[in-house]
Amino acid sequence: MQFDFTGKAVITTGAARGIGRTMVKTFHDAGAMVLAADRDAEGLAETCEPFEERVASIVADISNPEGAKSIVDKCVEAFGRLDVCVNNAAVAPHASLLEERVEVWDTVYAVNCRGTFLMTQAAGRAMIEGGTENGRIVNFSSGVSKRGSAGAAAYASSRAAVESFTRVAAIELAPYDILVNTVSPGLIDTQPKPLPPRMEEGLGKRIPTLPLARAGEPEEVAWVTMFLASEYSSYVCGAVWEVDGAAGIGTRAGHKIIDDDPRYDWVTGKES
Ligand SMILES: NC(=O)c1ccc[n+]([C@@H]2O[C@H](COP(=O)([O-])OP(=O)(O)OC[C@H]3O[C@@H](n4cnc5c(N)ncnc54)[C@H](O)[C@@H]3O)[C@@H](O)[C@H]2O)c1
Repeated sequence: MQFDFTGKAVITTGAARGIGRTMVKTFHDAGAMVLAADRDAEGLAETCEPFEERVASIVADISNPEGAKSIVDKCVEAFGRLDVCVNNAAVAPHASLLEERVEVWDTVYAVNCRGTFLMTQAAGRAMIEGGTENGRIVNFSSGVSKRGSAGAAAYASSRAAVESFTRVAAIELAPYDILVNTVSPGLIDTQPKPLPPRMEEGLGKRIPTLPLARAGEPEEVAWVTMFLASEYSSYVCGAVWEVDGAAGIGTRAGHKIIDDDPRYDWVTGKES
């Protein structure tokens, strides 16, 4: 499968680092015109620096209506159209529930939920107004939305809200030929190195238990996002696409399974 986004305009939020930065490159390399958006001006400049053409940028905050609208307006102004909006920007501060500050909770929801809503609304309006055919909106969630993970009360629940929101958006925008889906990454290697000590220790224990015994690469998330942004996903709508190497469904298989339960000797053949 070869992605060709020639002539298409793509917004990527959260483009100053991590998965967003990688997506700017992969969409650009597949021929797209890319608007890279983030509130971190320095990181954004670093992301865009290698590209001589077809990449524009805007420093904006997705959590307020003016910021979200300015991103969409800039894309239309720079490229004359909007075909794909990837709502990747998020914040993920962790804190114990009993200590969590209400300001942190509100910020997580303002960026992860309100920001996704505002971007989806602004992008949907622009696509309809501009007569976009085969519009695509890809929202972001996380594997943690489906499990109880200590310290993730605000983040995990905000990501679950995005999955629910996406289902509603998918239904409401389908009549306009705009497909809305969610990408739900598992553990992806996006952290600048060296890792903070507690994170390094935690990951050192966790990674060997993952089914593939490794973290995912940002490119592996970008490829699925590109599929959902492409014409190949024409019958995928309102779905949650997990990019987690099976981390959400189990832990690494450690050893050969030998059933030594004598009740099943008649099944396993040990009896004979
Ligand atoms: N990295 C992982 O392991 C992982 C796992 C599960 C889900 N995800 C999801 O993937 C996406 C990207 O993750 P990442 O690790 O690359 O994130 P990251 O923290 O490395 O980068 C997020 C970017 O979003 C930007 N941002 C934050 N708030 C913003 C706002 N209000 N307006 C504009 N920009 C803002 C930040 O400045 C930053 O550049 C997120 O939606 C995250 O929830 C990541």
